[in-house]
Amino acid sequence: MKTKLLRALGIYFLIDGLLALLFGRGYVRLFRFGSRSSRYRQAIDWIASLPGWKVRSGGAAEAALGLAVLRQAPLDVQTVYQTVAGVYTAIDPGYRQWFYPQAHQAFDRALRQYLPEGGRVLDLGSGVGANLARLILMNLPFGAYTGVDLTKAMLAQARARYGNWSGVQFRQLNLITDPLPDGPFDLIISTWAFEHLPNPAHVAQKAWEQLAPGGQMVLLLEAKTDSWWSRLLNWVYPVIGAHLVREDDIRRFPGVVSVERYAGPLGDLALVIVEKPATSM
Ligand SMILES: C[S@@+](CC[C@H](N)C(=O)[O-])C[C@H]1O[C@@H](n2cnc3c(N)ncnc32)[C@H](O)[C@@H]1O
Repeated sequence: MKTKLLRALGIYFLIDGLLALLFGRGYVRLFRFGSRSSRYRQAIDWIASLPGWKVRSGGAAEAALGLAVLRQAPLDVQTVYQTVAGVYTAIDPGYRQWFYPQAHQAFDRALRQYLPEGGRVLDLGSGVGANLARLILMNLPFGAYTGVDLTKAMLAQARARYGNWSGVQFRQLNLITDPLPDGPFDLIISTWAFEHLPNPAHVAQKAWEQLAPGGQMVLLLEAKTDSWWSRLLNWVYPVIGAHLVREDDIRRFPGVVSVERYAGPLGDLALVIVEKPATSM
């Protein structure tokens, strides 16, 4: 009950603060109703008479307060994606093509390089099927694709788009607690999902066990750096059940052969390539 109340308060402060930050006095004026002599109306009129920069600064402070409250009662990951699933396809070009075009081009190159003819693909945290869309768009010769994700609404979108494709299946599971589908998979991929895992190396290990000898993992994830921006993001991300993945965690992934970093507005993206030797270990 207390958590729900804190969440509601946090969301209210965050949204109200952001609107005041963006629209300044114009936003405050929307609340000018009731009798002019009432205390409420006088308070609103007074705020609306302040210089715009003061109203916007107040909005920024209120939004920060909202985030601080939400850190005490973080949103549940499933609830977050249940809420955004309907608009996810519309917003994802933002961070794919506009924020990190080079990282995504490198990801596409890795798919081309590592997917063998008729290969079996496992996509961890597959969301609405954005990575399957890449495979199809690039006409890559996959034999079977399995997408796994925690959130029903994301999976529903994916199934609506690709459920009828031959060799394609989507399954609901929790990467943290559930076993992964039985392999072996020739290629295991994941984009923008490892940041939701408290112990990413543990999930990388589980995936490694389902990887075919000679197979690869291609993982694109948000990595932590020492910059102030990265620290700020890492302060905010727990609000949506996420954190930037630490270099130490990436080093604990089995079989890492390369880590490339790409800078962008949300900090560094790391493209991690994992290879399992062709002879079983
Ligand atoms: C930012 S979206 C990325 C989706 C997709 N990979 C893409 O690049 O568009 C993160 C996805 O990870 C999923 N996810 C988060 N935590 C998860 C978990 N513990 N197990 C399975 N999926 C998870 C969410 O439901 C969401 O669909």
